[in-house]
Amino acid sequence: MAVIDQLTSQEAIDLENKYGAHNYHPLPVVLSRGEGVYVWDVEGKKYYDFLSAYSAVNQGHCHPKIVAAMTEQAQTLTLTSRAFYNDMLGKYEKYASETFNFDKLLPMNTGAEAVETALKICRKWAYEVKGIDENEAEIVVCENNFHGRTTTIISFSNDPVARKNFGPYTNGFIKIEYNNLEALEQTLKNNSNVAGFLVEPIQGEAGVYVPTEGYLSKAKAICEAHNVLFIADEVQTGIARTGKMLAVDHENVKPDILILGKALSGGAYPVSAVLADESIMNVIKPGNHGSTFGGNPIAAAVAIAALEVVKNEDLANNAQVLGELFRSELSKFIETSSIVNSVRGKGLLNAILINDDEDSDTAWNICLKLRDNGLLAKPTHGNIIRFAPPLVMTREQLLDCVSIITKTLKEFEV
Ligand SMILES: Cc1ncc(COP(=O)(O)O)c(C=O)c1O
Repeated sequence: MAVIDQLTSQEAIDLENKYGAHNYHPLPVVLSRGEGVYVWDVEGKKYYDFLSAYSAVNQGHCHPKIVAAMTEQAQTLTLTSRAFYNDMLGKYEKYASETFNFDKLLPMNTGAEAVETALKICRKWAYEVKGIDENEAEIVVCENNFHGRTTTIISFSNDPVARKNFGPYTNGFIKIEYNNLEALEQTLKNNSNVAGFLVEPIQGEAGVYVPTEGYLSKAKAICEAHNVLFIADEVQTGIARTGKMLAVDHENVKPDILILGKALSGGAYPVSAVLADESIMNVIKPGNHGSTFGGNPIAAAVAIAALEVVKNEDLANNAQVLGELFRSELSKFIETSSIVNSVRGKGLLNAILINDDEDSDTAWNICLKLRDNGLLAKPTHGNIIRFAPPLVMTREQLLDCVSIITKTLKEFEV
């Protein structure tokens, strides 16, 4: 079979099943093209993308400005490694640092790598600045967190599927309840070896759990009082997804360490980053950390274009306005619905809670029906469906999607 042979959906699925590791359970739809808020399958059927590659495609599929920046750079210089300087990285570091109001940026590729980077920076800061005894530093994390898939990150996950049989695990993490300031206060009070608090401003994978208003700013204040670094994982919530450039902006919080990924590239290319001010970032010295591809010229060009698109098209504001419309329309539907219990979220990161057991297949079946009706979404956990369309959506398109969603849900009313 030649690579260019056009496959049917079934042939593509069969190939993945036979030759690919089964580390995902995809919805059965095979996509071959994307533009803006739409994707098309290999048979030519058109869908609204209501997942945006887990919030990586905030700027819409194949945004022409991002694709142009990427292809131009790809024809000029792709990779130098950090053994040499390149003429794009500094420009990107300046642009992104100024955009997010930090002194410095450390470039990586995937979200998990950026989280690992933040953890390493935090530990080094603990020993060299805070003065914690060697190997004694602890980092506080939250229950039901999702920060990626590396051995260290799954060490502090409480998802048995992500964790089981991947031990032995990395030490040095204390887990507390999410959205519980008292637990944070007590933990920091009772343990002078805590160096950082790693938190998702909204827990995305766990099912779009939005903490109580004031949680982030109060948590930041508690961290400050105990000389503990507040580390915001904005890999999913960042880059305009929740209606502000960062989700912490809703509470005017400046994290000590900011972790970005996904939409930092508009979904065109793996680009992630850790940002911090000099007093923290300067603990990293040559040889301490790195990545062959981190900070490559294509990544730099793509990330600048992706951030420019977000600003120029005012995507944060669009996410804010359309998010409110989405939740208000869904709330109206829920008033008389027996299949949906609630809708929650911020900006265009939302979820509905299906009125069935966590381990039922109702949410999955609803997603299959949504697909048939021209809209792609995926359950996060059991009975929760996440709705996160590209932020370039128009009001008319959003209302069209609401009508597809409510019509589909009606088919499941008992
Ligand atoms: C909050 C958060 N952190 C980290 C990650 C990991 O990112 P990646 O899959 O690019 O490694 C994700 C991915 O969903 C995420 O949602």
